[in-house]
Amino acid sequence: GKVAVLMGGKSAEREVSLMSGAGVLKALQAKGVDAHAFDPSQREISELKRKGFKRCFIALHGRFGEDGTVQGALELLGIPYTGSGVMASAVAIDKVMTKRIWLAEGLPTPKYKLLQRGAYTREMVREIPDDLGLPLIVKPAREGSSIGVAKVQGYSEVQEAVDAAAALDADVLCEQFVSGDEVTCPVLGTGEQARALPVIRIVAPEGNYDYQNKYFTDDTKYLVPCGLPEGEEAAIQELVLKAYRVLGCRGWGRIDVMIDGATRKPSLLEINTSPGMTGHSLVPMSARAAGISYEDLCLQLLSTASL
Ligand code: DAL
Ligand code: MG
Repeated sequence: GKVAVLMGGKSAEREVSLMSGAGVLKALQAKGVDAHAFDPSQREISELKRKGFKRCFIALHGRFGEDGTVQGALELLGIPYTGSGVMASAVAIDKVMTKRIWLAEGLPTPKYKLLQRGAYTREMVREIPDDLGLPLIVKPAREGSSIGVAKVQGYSEVQEAVDAAAALDADVLCEQFVSGDEVTCPVLGTGEQARALPVIRIVAPEGNYDYQNKYFTDDTKYLVPCGLPEGEEAAIQELVLKAYRVLGCRGWGRIDVMIDGATRKPSLLEINTSPGMTGHSLVPMSARAAGISYEDLCLQLLSTASL
């Protein structure tokens, strides 16, 4: 039956989603799937039903796509879709909610403070470095692709970073900076059947893995095999599987992790329930290292579409 590749959308990651969607669409078509692009920011989502689409591949990123809203609409329409369901998507889009669950389950994630737009004072902002140390990271709680993320080096920069993040999201996450190795690890499957793919180590120019270095430069180095000391990769894979399962994720995901350079202790940063599928993206890179081509990956993900 007809398959819709949902792409575009109205989040700040629209441009990234269009790149992911274009790749997925081409791959599915090459495999003989009757796949069509569908941008829910330009068309009524109920059109999917009227036009006879039988399944959806969600290649949307960020809010109104990765956050449970589109998933909920598809549940109502009765159209199976790839990836996590409503609850896991809604929790995972929110980095603070995600951390609360990981902490409650005893999983390591950097120390943090939440500031809420309209409720934080200059006094509260000034105390953040006292609690978290410097440098520290400021992020909107529900963005992706490093949009609105700042690494704050000194007291004088905190206020500006928090205000900038608060312009993008009512919830601002201030997080302790972990200095060391930046890695990411995809997970494929659901529940006890879920498996971790090879870990990728990211070496960005001056440690700055930002939007530009994610998608538009070739200056970032991606190491797979990751070259971590023996045993560390397996430990990361075990940790990300736990992190994925406790959130009730389904189908696939990618978890970003920092490894403290001094203690070698891993800390979970966040989980992406609709990871990038662009030419620069990491799930396809890791899958390739495991012997799974981009086209086969897309087909495999589509086969897990469910309600
Ligand atoms: N948020 C982007 C798409 C990613 O995690 O790959
Ligand atoms: Mg993300």
